[in-house]
Amino acid sequence: MTRVVVLLSGRGSNFRAIAEAGLPIEIAAVISNRPQAAGLAWARERGIPATALDHTEYADRAVFDARLADEIERHRPDLVVLAGYMRILSAAFIARFEGRLLNIHPSLLPMFPGLKTHERALAEGVKVHGCTVHFVTADLDHGPIVIQAAVPVRADDTPETLAARVLAQEHRIYPQAVRWFAEGRLAIRDGRVNLQDDSTSQSVLVPEG
Ligand code: GRF
Repeated sequence: MTRVVVLLSGRGSNFRAIAEAGLPIEIAAVISNRPQAAGLAWARERGIPATALDHTEYADRAVFDARLADEIERHRPDLVVLAGYMRILSAAFIARFEGRLLNIHPSLLPMFPGLKTHERALAEGVKVHGCTVHFVTADLDHGPIVIQAAVPVRADDTPETLAARVLAQEHRIYPQAVRWFAEGRLAIRDGRVNLQDDSTSQSVLVPEG
């Protein structure tokens, strides 16, 4: 079984989607930098080890990230999943987990890295928007792409309606990416992800369905 540690800061709907997808993984722990995160409570209700590490109690990012990394490694993860973890990670942290650190971002990267992606997509008038699961590297929101899903942007969309349409796709592609990782099918070559044994060729873009 692939041992997974999940980091989150809030609602935790992507964590729930992964936990309920019947994947060949063991969620060894859920860790949140926000003690009130709904995702932590959900984990506790299901007997999944859940830990709060409040970043406001630490002197700076380097000290906090070192503590966080130690806490993660206690659970001997094969994979660390960022699921709405809303803090920038230090380069030292990323170096410790590189190659086994996944993130989901609510845009079709490399478009709209950073925050407020749905507002910015609407402001640009793009007709297609979506989400991306990628490996995390020191280059913020630019690591090797594992899978993306696209959704149409509608004329009457608000950031909220667009976010909801994208989120439904996040809940499809993140479990898929974790499954591929657990199956040992994700190889990174020249900074890009190659999906091994891809007989279905539905690997990269999953249209709304
Ligand atoms: C998602 O939109 C994800 O793409 C972004 O943060 C949000 C987390 O939502 N990184 P949830 O906590 O998984 O519900």
